[in-house]
Amino acid sequence: MAGKVCLVTGATSGIGYETALGLTRAGAQVGIVGRDPAKVERAIRAIGAAVPGAVLDPFVADLSAQAEIRRLAAAVLAAYPRLDVLVNNAGAIFDRREVTVDGIERTWALDHLGYVLLTLELLDRLKGSAPARIVNVASAAHLRGHVDFADLEGARSYGAIRAYSQAKLGNVLFTYALARRLAGSGVTVNALHPGVINTGFAKNTRGLLGFGWGLIRPFLRPPAEGAATSLHVATAPELAGVSGRYFSRCREEPSSPESRDEAVQERVWEASLRQIGRAVL
Ligand SMILES: NC(=O)c1ccc[n+]([C@@H]2O[C@H](COP(=O)([O-])OP(=O)(O)OC[C@H]3O[C@@H](n4cnc5c(N)ncnc54)[C@H](OP(=O)(O)O)[C@@H]3O)[C@@H](O)[C@H]2O)c1
Repeated sequence: MAGKVCLVTGATSGIGYETALGLTRAGAQVGIVGRDPAKVERAIRAIGAAVPGAVLDPFVADLSAQAEIRRLAAAVLAAYPRLDVLVNNAGAIFDRREVTVDGIERTWALDHLGYVLLTLELLDRLKGSAPARIVNVASAAHLRGHVDFADLEGARSYGAIRAYSQAKLGNVLFTYALARRLAGSGVTVNALHPGVINTGFAKNTRGLLGFGWGLIRPFLRPPAEGAATSLHVATAPELAGVSGRYFSRCREEPSSPESRDEAVQERVWEASLRQIGRAVL
């Protein structure tokens, strides 16, 4: 990865931090994206201390807010004449329904639309840097996800796990719809499940969900193992040119039947582009 430039969102903790560390160890220059400047600085200091000669750049943005994503993308484009790898990783689950500054339900806005908007804002730079890779950190939760087009943002009925599973299904659907559009461009896009990992993932939840996560958390795999599949998909030479696939445990696996339904992929693509104020391509 020497000479390559990578951007990792949600790199201040958990799987994203370990992914940024792994890419830095592999020799890449890495942009650390977080929403809290102090956490971004802390991550940069820690990775810098672990990897002699590390080249790291701080970027701060709340990825649930579209204006902040656009501002982030502008900063990345100004800082990086080339971008070889984009890892969309920042995500969370919310036990109560909230809406963002854009008036969009927060899980859908952060976990799904955040990936879509940042990717599309950076797409020309990735194309200009081809061969380049987009890595979308989804989840096995997508397997029980369903896109409820009649109530996409849970306005009528909200459930944390339902919203999260739908957003993670959104990641996989987006990956396949984008892969089709990127065929022949030299830019690949893949989705993955990182494993069930001991991270701060459910920190926004209280009640049963937060309690349950707190109980099982110590028995889960460590964050470094959670980054293994992201690093594999971002760097493995044998995956050059491989696009529109879903990975788990560093291997290609089938994603859910709904995720492979081209009509659903296209419907979500159109709905998402409308929600981020872009013409449908
Ligand atoms: N842990 C698991 O078992 C598991 C399983 C399947 C999939 N995943 C996926 O793995 C990815 C990483 O999660 P994790 O488990 O590593 O959780 P984590 O430790 O909570 O890390 C999430 C990262 O996303 C950042 N983030 C959250 N909200 C943000 C926002 N509004 N704007 C910008 N950044 C934001 C967090 O920043 P702060 O530190 O500032 O909150 C943090 O850096 C997520 O997409 C998650 O869905 C996790």
